Amino acid sequence: MEHLVDELAEAGERWRQLGWPEPRIGLVAGSGLAVDLPLPSAGRQPLQRFLPWTASGVVGHSLEVELLLPDSPAPVAYLRGRLHSYQGYSAAQVVFPVRMLALLGMRTLLMTNAAGGLAEALHAGDLVLVSDHLNLTGLNPLRGEPPAHWGERFPDLTAAYAPRLRALLRRHADSLGIALAEGVYAGVAGPSYETPAEIRMFRTLGADVVGMSTVLEVIAAHHMGVSCACVSLVSNLGAGILSVPLDHAEVLEAGRGAAGRLRELFARVLVDPELVESGRAA
Ligand code: HPA
Repeated sequence: MEHLVDELAEAGERWRQLGWPEPRIGLVAGSGLAVDLPLPSAGRQPLQRFLPWTASGVVGHSLEVELLLPDSPAPVAYLRGRLHSYQGYSAAQVVFPVRMLALLGMRTLLMTNAAGGLAEALHAGDLVLVSDHLNLTGLNPLRGEPPAHWGERFPDLTAAYAPRLRALLRRHADSLGIALAEGVYAGVAGPSYETPAEIRMFRTLGADVVGMSTVLEVIAAHHMGVSCACVSLVSNLGAGILSVPLDHAEVLEAGRGAAGRLRELFARVLVDPELVESGRAA
């Protein structure tokens, strides 16, 4: 991890060289969900600028960092697109952007992702507030010897999805009339979608949605003392629930359908002073 420490220091240096203030809040947007937010922006940079290796986005997904500067409560680093292990990145590479932001001072991390719906009551287009996860990727970004000052060797994940942040997201969704279900996210490595038998298994295990991201970022961020919350968009129902094959185009299309709701929700949430106070107090 020695290289990693140096590479993260270098990435932080590049952030500062832009003259950008340190972010207190992070927002990571998933597949086709990088909506433009109606908040003052200091501009965007390719994520590549901060990475020590060559990275590319998934088809249809951009990879940029935008700095949002609302009057209050704090600067927001908005990652428009993310890295996934199915692209061939290691767990440490997948969480590199999140660790960079945590080292720069991020205390609160909000995320979105596209996911397959498993729970009976869910339909394509629904938004789900993630209450907990099953890490079924077989990966963990804390393997190896992360520097001790980053966090504990065996971090507790009981409140990985911070109750205070979840309550805050729910309060704003309710006041905007945006329906928000709640459920457990099963994180898998992908990139193949699940078989119908796997979907039945995940349901039995207690998952409500399944997707190919987020869990590694939450583990790494929580490890470093960052409060996390996540909203999943149900872009399709899990394989075998409907008798139609799954298609990535459908995932992107669902993202366009949810853009308005996500824009409204995050425009409110990101300027709530409690967002900063919620950092780690959970
Ligand atoms: N499975 C896994 N990941 C996904 C899905 C799915 O059905 N939909 C969007 N991401």
